[in-house]
Amino acid sequence: MQILYNIIDFFKREISHIYDLKECESLAYIVIDKIFGYNKSDFILRSNETINESQRKIIINIVKNLKKNVPIQYILEEAYFFDLNFFVNSSVLIPRPETEELVSWIINESKQKNSFLDIGTGSGCLIITLNKLLKGSFSAIDVCSNALDIAKINNKKHNTEVSFYQMDILKKENIFKDKFDVILSNPPYVTNSEKKFIKKNVIDHEPHIALFVSDRDPLIFYRSIIKRSKDLLSNEGCLYFEINERFGLDIIQLLNNEGFVNIKLKKDINGKDRMIKAVFK
Ligand SMILES: C[S@@+](CC[C@H](N)C(=O)[O-])C[C@H]1O[C@@H](n2cnc3c(N)ncnc32)[C@H](O)[C@@H]1O
Repeated sequence: MQILYNIIDFFKREISHIYDLKECESLAYIVIDKIFGYNKSDFILRSNETINESQRKIIINIVKNLKKNVPIQYILEEAYFFDLNFFVNSSVLIPRPETEELVSWIINESKQKNSFLDIGTGSGCLIITLNKLLKGSFSAIDVCSNALDIAKINNKKHNTEVSFYQMDILKKENIFKDKFDVILSNPPYVTNSEKKFIKKNVIDHEPHIALFVSDRDPLIFYRSIIKRSKDLLSNEGCLYFEINERFGLDIIQLLNNEGFVNIKLKKDINGKDRMIKAVFK
């Protein structure tokens, strides 16, 4: 690896047994952007520039980790959500594009809302994005203190004013006195039996507490959040969920049983049932 141009071939040679060639190329461009600050068109203009020894070492180390299936976001300790750059490590789920769709939906409908609570905040990407783009007060909970540490780092990084609390949503304690106009959650929803369909880099490196639920009770988080929301939502308050595409109708039923109204099920960009909204009256 002497010049920038060689990096693309290096990635293809070293990791094409894990990633297809297009992905190898995209990963190489992400790394080039990170190390040299060159986007794709800069790269084309400067592809004959030489790589120095320390840059070469960094690239080799990144590829070493990619070979161990570590997601690029954890290697570079950053992930983009709504074009915002979030600090991430293996204590938090890597923000997903389908979750951006949920946040878009909330933003479009919440201009008149004043208080927001995110349940299972992880990196804080949802609530921090809402705080950036809407007015009001913003709170978030997670059971995991390491995740909350990351969320707080992101809160500082983006100059937002989210209040974070450690709380287990499956336990009875309620730490909030005030009501919220909007509650949102992307809780764990992949069943243990679906593990076999999940990529190795996810299984080996992302936090299982953020992902998996038992097959015996896959809706445990939804049931608990729906029940809890009846005490936490203001009149006409809205509850938004990201969901497992298999359980849309079951979650609608749970919401109906608890008296929620105006329930809407929405598909993601891939045509899969992915989001639900319900109103509390
Ligand atoms: C699917 S991740 C979502 C993370 C982030 N909101 C996102 O969308 O990128 C679920 C989150 O729920 C948290 N969680 C798991 N069990 C919980 C519990 N009993 N109470 C509160 N949060 C919990 C996990 O730590 C994780 O951060």
